[in-house]
Amino acid sequence: MNRLQGKLVLITGASAGIGAACARAFAARGAHLLLSARRFSRLEALRDELQSAHETEVHIEKLDIRDRGGVESYVAHLLSQGRVPDILVNNAGLSRGLEPFHEGRVEDWEEMIDTNVKGLLYMSRAVLHLMVERNSGHVIHIGSTAGDIVYPGGNVYNATKFAVKALNQGMNLDVVGTRIRISSVDPGLVETEFSQVRFHGDEERAAGVYRGYTPLTADDVADVVCYVAGAPEHVNLMRTVVYPTDQRNPYVLHRETSTAG
Ligand SMILES: NC(=O)c1ccc[n+]([C@@H]2O[C@H](COP(=O)([O-])OP(=O)(O)OC[C@H]3O[C@@H](n4cnc5c(N)ncnc54)[C@H](OP(=O)(O)O)[C@@H]3O)[C@@H](O)[C@H]2O)c1
Repeated sequence: MNRLQGKLVLITGASAGIGAACARAFAARGAHLLLSARRFSRLEALRDELQSAHETEVHIEKLDIRDRGGVESYVAHLLSQGRVPDILVNNAGLSRGLEPFHEGRVEDWEEMIDTNVKGLLYMSRAVLHLMVERNSGHVIHIGSTAGDIVYPGGNVYNATKFAVKALNQGMNLDVVGTRIRISSVDPGLVETEFSQVRFHGDEERAAGVYRGYTPLTADDVADVVCYVAGAPEHVNLMRTVVYPTDQRNPYVLHRETSTAG
């Protein structure tokens, strides 16, 4: 049974990776989309692709999730058009650097905290209260196994994803008694642009992260997100952890060949 048909899904960070894959997966299941990210030309290309392949409405917005005023006016604008999302996928996020804490760059830390934590807070605050007013809705965070177990050099990125885990629990507690669901999908290693961003564009180092084993694809994660979103309304898959079979925790990874990264 397809419970996603006709749902309105807001996805942050939809210009690449898991967010773009979620857009494709929801569109294929008949959902309508509100897509945002900073790289607008990518959103335009994705909108054109989805609208020609599916009978779906796709609205795109250039939005930096760190911009609190921008997030609030975007959601207010959606509300004025009667577009209250049925599902919010809090996906926009990034890691920067893998240095030991004492060598870390404060600018990297601030970017991760501002995006992964504060951006998620701004969007969730703006959307969740509309959902509570309607007594209907589903927020799905893209957390990480980095929010479960700290790995060397992960320090501040781990802290941001631990924060997402805490917020997932906290939001769930605060909506008890409503029909709102709050969930988190927490992947291990997924091959996206994530490592290029982490290593500030060092493509060789980024490629090494995914060498010698089979990582998750963005589509694998999007399938899980759609499964979580498509469960019956009385079922809240509160936290779903998904690893590639070759990985059993953030640092126990089976590689056929030894690689850098
Ligand atoms: N890849 C992994 O191994 C992995 C594992 C576990 C969890 N995750 C999580 O999955 C989520 C998506 O990552 P990904 O792997 O798909 O990486 P990705 O390919 O680099 O995509 C990241 C997306 O986030 C958006 N984004 C980043 N900063 C933003 C900002 N300030 N405002 C708005 N959008 C922003 C990017 O769009 P623009 O640059 O166009 O703004 C892009 O669409 C993140 O939360 C990440 O922490 C990833």
